[in-house]
Amino acid sequence: MKKVLVTGGTGYIGSHTVVALIEKGYQVVIADNLYNSNEGVLNAIAGITGVRPAFEQVDLADEAACMALFRKHADIEAVIHFAAYKSVNESVSKPLDYYRNNLNSLMWVLRGMEAVGCKRIVFSSSCTVYGQPDVLPVKETMPYQEATCPYGNTKRIAEEILKDVVRADRDKHEGRSELKVLLLRYFNPIGAHESALIGELPNGVPNNLMPFITQTAAGIRECLSVFGSDYDTPDGTPQRDYIHVCDLADAHVCAMEYMASDDFSGWDAFNVGCGRPYGVLDVIRSFEKMSGVKLPYKICGRRAGDIEKIWGDVEKANRKLGWRAKRGLDEMTLSAWRWQQHLQEKA
Ligand code: UD1
Repeated sequence: MKKVLVTGGTGYIGSHTVVALIEKGYQVVIADNLYNSNEGVLNAIAGITGVRPAFEQVDLADEAACMALFRKHADIEAVIHFAAYKSVNESVSKPLDYYRNNLNSLMWVLRGMEAVGCKRIVFSSSCTVYGQPDVLPVKETMPYQEATCPYGNTKRIAEEILKDVVRADRDKHEGRSELKVLLLRYFNPIGAHESALIGELPNGVPNNLMPFITQTAAGIRECLSVFGSDYDTPDGTPQRDYIHVCDLADAHVCAMEYMASDDFSGWDAFNVGCGRPYGVLDVIRSFEKMSGVKLPYKICGRRAGDIEKIWGDVEKANRKLGWRAKRGLDEMTLSAWRWQQHLQEKA
């Protein structure tokens, strides 16, 4: 059985990907420090798939701990590296924590792979590396733009670290890298698994739109602030390429299959989105329609650091990975609501 190490596998995108991998017959080892998740997710994964993945609680930014993890699981075929801090706001106030955690963990994972001869890694990147693109939909060939926050910077630097590592491997192996690095640039993942057993679980007050909407609808938050209505977009609110987290999870399985083929060597990046833009009001309207709950919201000023609009050209992922997003906005908002309701029932 193909054995995969999933770092950050109890997190939001990680847990959905673990489910998708298990369902495709992969043997999964999760490594996570539970900084932003909890062990209960393992029971939920077992509840959905019937399989409880192996779990190692480890801080990957700790070199010795990371190397010990790799020695223990020296037979892994590939790594999917999700583990990272992800809050835009927090990264502005704690830049060193972000650089230390997100970059050290990547470097020690790469060292661990080298030590055990593991040659494949899928890395969680973000559309944030494009900044505000001049041309939309944005293609993978667009140059990087300066990040608006340290979190975004860690993604760009990580991409460059991976490029350098592949370059060095290529030089070592007469022009064809043995190391395979595949970057998935996520757009805006929302929604939850159809079972409502796993989903997004932010600590404290959510920064992101979807959990703020569901918590407001559940009465945990008083009112949603819509950050800006004077953008140059159809309804004046910023536009994003929202993608169902289960479609995003499936993209990782396709990436694993693509990497296993001889067609792929070296480094490549793929946009993973639906390829169409929605404004904040579109998301609110979809949520209200699917949940039947009237959402209290008010239009406020712009949020610092927000870009006006971004959506992805996903043709490359469709063609090369054989992957396509299947779920629409209504399915995303409804599943997010069912997850919130499940959390309420459990509380
Ligand atoms: C940001 C990051 C992205 C990161 C993601 C998850 C950038 C440019 N984007 O995405 O890389 O992966 O967070 O951490 O750094 N909104 C409201 N009210 C709210 C919350 C959000 O109106 O209470 C609006 C925002 O202005 C934005 C949209 O909803 O237009 C989506 O916001 P959010 O969910 O926070 O994601 P991004 O900022 O797009």
